[in-house]
Amino acid sequence: MNREDFPMLKEDIVYFDNGATTLKPQCVIDKMVDYYSHYTSNIHRGDYEAAIKTNQEYDGVREIVRDFICAKSTSEIVFTKGSTEALNMIVFGYFMHILHSGDEVLIDKAEHASNVLPWYVLQERIGIQVKCISLNEEYELTSTNVEKAITDKTKVVAISHVSNVIGDIRDVNHIGKICHEKGIYFVVDASQAVSHTSIDVVSDHIDFMAFSGHKMMGPTGVGVLYGKYDLLDQMEPLEYGGGMNQFFESDGTYELKLPPTKFEAGTPPIAEVIGLGEAIRYINKIGVSKIREHELNLKKYLISEMEKIDNVILYNKNSESGIVIFNLDHVFSQDTSIYLNHYHIYIRAGNHCTKMLKDDLRIKNTCRVSLYVYNTKEDVDRFVDALKKSYDIFKIVI
Ligand code: ALA
Repeated sequence: MNREDFPMLKEDIVYFDNGATTLKPQCVIDKMVDYYSHYTSNIHRGDYEAAIKTNQEYDGVREIVRDFICAKSTSEIVFTKGSTEALNMIVFGYFMHILHSGDEVLIDKAEHASNVLPWYVLQERIGIQVKCISLNEEYELTSTNVEKAITDKTKVVAISHVSNVIGDIRDVNHIGKICHEKGIYFVVDASQAVSHTSIDVVSDHIDFMAFSGHKMMGPTGVGVLYGKYDLLDQMEPLEYGGGMNQFFESDGTYELKLPPTKFEAGTPPIAEVIGLGEAIRYINKIGVSKIREHELNLKKYLISEMEKIDNVILYNKNSESGIVIFNLDHVFSQDTSIYLNHYHIYIRAGNHCTKMLKDDLRIKNTCRVSLYVYNTKEDVDRFVDALKKSYDIFKIVI
C-alpha cells in the first residue's frame, strides 16, 4: 500500500469516513477506464474480440470473489448493486417463501437499516416475529447473548459481521456454529467486514452473506450476494429479463437459467464488477491481516490521544475494528463534523442508518471516525489538534 496510489490523498484532506465509502486506488480507476476506452461491450452476448475480453474479465471476477471469501463455487457468487440489494434479495427472494407466521428472526439494535427494514416488511406481510438480541454493556453483540435469544421458534439469525457504528467484530464463526447445530439459517451483512477482517463462508457456517464493493476500494454500484448453492437454487429472482432466462415462448412457458445467472437480469454493472476485481487484487497484495493490524494499532493510538481531551465523550473505545464514535460534550454531532470540515477532516455525523441503537446508547447522534489502511498517525495528530482547538470555538455557544 502506498498513499500515492490514491488520487484523493493528493488533496489536503484527512479522510476518516471509510465506513461510508473508501477511497479508490488509481489501479481500480484505470481498470474501469480501460474497459470504457478499449473494450466496451456487453457480456455474454457478443462473438467479437472486445465482447470476448469483457466476458473473460467479468467472469474472472467471480473466481476472484469466490477465492476471497472462500466459497465453494463461483455459482454461489451473485453480483448485485450493493449490500442493500443483496439483503433484499435474500429476504424477499428466499425467506418470504419459506418462513411462516410465528417464525422468529433474530437481529440486534445495532443493525443497519438494510438488515432491519426488509425483515420488518416481511413481519408485516407474513407475520414473522423480528426480535432483537440484547447488546452487552459496551453495546457489543456477544455469542452468549445470541445463544440466549434463540428459542424453538428461531429460524434465522441475521447480523452484521462488524457493526458500522460500534465497530465490534462479531464472532461469526461461533455464532455460525450455534446456528448450524440448531438448524437455524445464518445471514451475515459483511459490508463493514470484508477487507478489514478475513472471512471464510464455509468454516463460518454462513448461509447467505452480502457486501458492497465501494467499502473495499472498489466502485459504487456493485456488491455481492453469497448464498450456498442449494439455497440459491431455491431462491427466486426479484427481477426478470434478458440474460437470465433459458427460453420463453408465446404460450407463456419459460425457463430460467441456473444460479448465479438467474439473479443477474439485464445488463449488469460491467465496469463496476471489473473494478471490484481489481480492488480485490489490490487488497490481496497488501493482505487483509495487515490491514486489520494497521487499523487496530491506529485505533489504539487515536483512542489514547482522544482520551487526553477533556470535552470528548467516547462510546466504543474497546471495540476491535477501526471505528470510533464520539461526541464533544454539549455539541451537536453535525456541528462537530462541520467544524472539522473547516480543517479538511472528513468524518460522518448522525445515526449512521442505525436508528435503533439510540435506545441503548441513550443518544441519537454521534460522530464517527472510520479508519482504513491509508490513514496515518499524522492524520490522527491533525484530527486531535483540531479537536483540542474546538473547545475555544464551541464554548461561545455551550
Ligand atoms: N452504511 C454506510 C455507513 O455506515 C453508508 O456510513
